[in-house]
This record gives sequence, structure tokens and C-alpha cells, in this order.
Amino acid sequence: MDTYKDTFQFPFPQRNATPRLRIIIVGAGIAGLSAALGLHKAGHNVTILERVREIAEVGAGIQMAPNAARILGRFGILEDVVSKANVLERNSLRRYEDDGELGSAPLMPQVGKEYNAPLCVIHRGDLQSILLTAVRAANIDLRLNSRVISADDRFSGTVHLASSESLSADVVIAADGIKSDLRHQIATAHGHIDHAQPTGDAAYRILIPKKDLENDPEALELLNSNVGMRWLGPGGHIMAYPIKNNQIYNMVLLHPKPAGRDDEPEAESWTQQGSKEEMRRFYERWNPLVKKLLSYVPEGEVKEWTLNSHAFLPSWVENRTVLMGDACHPMLPYVAQGAAQAIEDAGVLACVLSVGGDNVDIPTRLKVYELVRKERAEKIQNSAAETRLALHLPDGEKQRQRDEAIKSGGSNPDLWADKKWQEFMWGTDVMKRTVDDWEALVSQASEAHLQSVRPTLF
Ligand SMILES: Cc1cc2nc3c(=O)[nH]c(=O)nc-3n(C[C@H](O)[C@H](O)[C@H](O)COP(=O)(O)OP(=O)(O)OC[C@H]3O[C@@H](n4cnc5c(N)ncnc54)[C@H](O)[C@@H]3O)c2cc1C
Ligand SMILES: *[C@@H]1O[C@H](CO)[C@@H](O)[C@H](O)[C@H]1NC(C)=O
Repeated sequence: MDTYKDTFQFPFPQRNATPRLRIIIVGAGIAGLSAALGLHKAGHNVTILERVREIAEVGAGIQMAPNAARILGRFGILEDVVSKANVLERNSLRRYEDDGELGSAPLMPQVGKEYNAPLCVIHRGDLQSILLTAVRAANIDLRLNSRVISADDRFSGTVHLASSESLSADVVIAADGIKSDLRHQIATAHGHIDHAQPTGDAAYRILIPKKDLENDPEALELLNSNVGMRWLGPGGHIMAYPIKNNQIYNMVLLHPKPAGRDDEPEAESWTQQGSKEEMRRFYERWNPLVKKLLSYVPEGEVKEWTLNSHAFLPSWVENRTVLMGDACHPMLPYVAQGAAQAIEDAGVLACVLSVGGDNVDIPTRLKVYELVRKERAEKIQNSAAETRLALHLPDGEKQRQRDEAIKSGGSNPDLWADKKWQEFMWGTDVMKRTVDDWEALVSQASEAHLQSVRPTLF
């Protein structure tokens, strides 16, 4: 971590607000817990409300790209994250049929040097538990079994809980995930319909423990090598890498999933069961190594995650209430930025609520957050959708052109592996931008606000 010291010694803006701000965060996922840490570090008074009774270790592998690792470094927990993570040395793009390598690009340590922060992969449960430990160590008020059912109708800082209790603060942060109740309430208040559109794809998520690979030297070698494998095929692709210090092989398998009668897009779930038999059938024509790996998954251990697109929101801010994470920019997994973008939100919220003195009001501060984050997150959402098309081309002329482009080492149609796009995703420092450009951002935010309240003149 010493290498990155200069980047991580980011002076958290400390606002001389008297008294310091009271902040309610709804949801203790990756987004909410990260925001709590950042805002606590900036000196605010944070309460987290989480609806579950107990936070369980759920999910599978997620990528911590440099843009997120940099922020976790500033929050003081990157060392813990890296100790539980796998640091990938390179990615490898391969053809589904014969496992032939189309291209490979170095990840660590090169990427770390270039972007001043490492790239690793970690189990979502481990990341959440590291965040949780840090939140508890900082004595941040975390209330479980506290479901928020609504905000007050002016979104002025009050939330109502299922227990019929109400709480008030200076700011309410909705970090309540893809099915966000608060987003729904804001949309309804404006007469918008808030619903998801099926993409036609789903992802199987499987975790294969080392003991199930013990008699297979080829699979063991894969488990022991820190390579991000990406197999491209017609209508689907597979992303795979080791997690839990090479004790588990993590595979995400994208495949077509026509919307059926019984799977309403609203039924988006992280814990839905998938069928091993259906999975086996879709990947029947893929290479023997992939098929062998799939055969090791125990029956009943296949999870299926339906992928929907959510239309971009007109705004992320409603008076003193602000959306973050999956509540406002759920990511398709193709460029592996879901958790990373939520962590960027946390870094920027910590800055906008703390920079400068008391002369900037809270709605304007939240608008600055929206200025720094919304366009960028939406570009990344778009790049995931674009990458999906490139990765799933049927065999034919277009697929051959794609493979040639990958082999040539120039610009890569798989944006996760494209140098220029990586520079945008991994190289941008959103916290630094917020602090450096503060004055300009504030005037831009005030101007945008005036536009929205000024009557139209002809
Ligand atoms: C169970 C689970 C498994 C996941 N597995 C993966 C994975 O394997 N790979 C991957 O890339 N991504 C996974 N994700 C998604 C990933 O965590 C997110 O994309 C990203 O981290 C951003 O998270 P978030 O904090 O915005 O939302 P979430 O992680 O969804 O967290 C939202 C939190 O808000 C709480 N909440 C919701 N409504 C209310 C309410 N009304 N009142 C109080 N609390 C509320 C929820 O209980 C939850 O804890 C998973 C998410 C979940 C919830
Ligand atoms: C925003 O919240 C404040 C309380 O901080 C309230 O007085 C005001 O009416 C709210 N504004 C709108 C437009 O609802």
C-alpha cells in the first residue's frame, strides 16, 4: 500500500459547520456503508437504517477497480480489502468454441502503477463485512430491522419507518438498492412510472470450492492463477476468476433469458435459484474446459440473476433527499463497475457535504454531487450495454471482425479491456475533481437550479 501513499493521503474536507450535519442513510449495502464511513471521516453525524435483521454474507465475486480502490484507500480500509481479495495479473479474452486466446492485457501491477491504486476481485460478502467492521469501529449508529417506508412529501429530511417511528436529519441518502422505495416515491411524486425493462439476458452465478476441483489439474491451475478469464460466444459470455485467496472459483455466465410470464422484471433478485440442467444445455457447444467446470457445481447451487435496464432518472436529488448506488444507476455487469460506482458516490457525497463554509445550502451541495456523478455513471451504464452487444455476437462476419480487432491489440470492442475506456473508468478521480473544481461546480449547480425554478419567458 506504501506505493499509493500520496493518492490515499487525501485531506477529507472538514466543514466548520456548527453544528455538524445529521445524516440518515437508508440501506447498509456497499453504497450505504461506504457513504457512512466517508461522511463520518468528514466529521458528520451519521445514522444508518437497514431493513434486514441481520446482515448475512450474500453474493459472489465483485471487482474492485482502481477508481474504487483509491477511495477505499482514503477511507482507510483498502489494506483489509486487499488481504481478502485476489489481485488479478491479467485478463484473457477467449473464443467459446476452442478456448483459443484472442487477446490478453496486463492488469496488476501495471494498472496499479498507472492509476495509483490496485485492481482486485473480492467476495461481496467480505467487502460488506470489512465495511461493517469499520462502521462499528467508528461507533456509527447502525440500526438493523429498521425498514424505511417513506420520506415526508417534501423530501425535507424526515423518514417514516415500518415501526411507525419517524426520524429527521439535514440530509437523507437513499442507498436502498435496485428496488429503491425512495426512488419509487420520488418518481411517483413527479408522475413518472418507475419500472425496469428486461434486457433479455440473465446471469448464472456459481462458486466452485477448491475441494471439488482436487482431481482436476487443469481446473486447479485455473484456480491458482490470478487471471480474469472471459469466454466470448454467440448470445452469451462467461467471466471467471478465483476469489477467497484462490479457495473458490467464481463464474458469472451470461445467457439469453426471454422474459416469461412468471418472471416479472420487478422480481429482480440476487438469491433466485437457477437450473443446472438449463445452464448445461446452453453451454453444450462450448469448450471442454468450460463444460468440465460447470459439471462441478453441486445441484441447487446455481443462482440466476435476471438483468434489466432501468431508464436514466431525470434527477438524483429531491430537496434534501439524494439517491446513490443501485438506487439510481444499477449497472449491467459487463464492465464490472456496479460496486465501484457506488463507492464513487460515497466519496463524492463525503466531499460535497463538507467542502467550504456554510454559505452553500444543502440542495445546492447535492446538485454538485449530481453534476459530478450522474453523467459519468450513465456513460458507464451505456458502455456496459454496448459491451454486451460486442461480447455476444453470433458466429459470422461481425464476430470475425471483432476477434480481429481484439487480436490487433488496438481499440478493444470489449470496453472492460479497452485501454482508452479504462483510462476513463479507472483513471478518473471524482473526489479530487469535486474539491479542485468546487467553486465552478457550485456556480454551475446554482445556475441549473435557477433554470429549473425560473418561469419560461418567450
Ligand atoms: C444479496 C445481494 C447480492 C449481490 N451479489 C452481487 C454479485 O454477486 N455480484 C455483483 O456484481 N453484484 C452483486 N450485488 C449488487 C452489488 O452489491 C451492487 O450492485 C453494488 O454494490 C451497489 O450496491 P447498493 O449498496 O447500491 O445496493 P444493495 O447492495 O442492493 O444494498 C441495498 C441495501 O438497502 C437495504 N434496503 C432496501 N430497501 C430498504 C428500506 N426501505 N429500508 C431500509 N433498508 C433498505 C437492503 O436490505 C440492502 O442492504 C448484490 C446485491 C445484493 C443485495
Ligand atoms: C425542502 O425542505 C425544506 C426543509 O429543509 C422545506 O422547508 C422546503 O419546503 C422543502 N422544499 C420543497 C420544494 O419541498
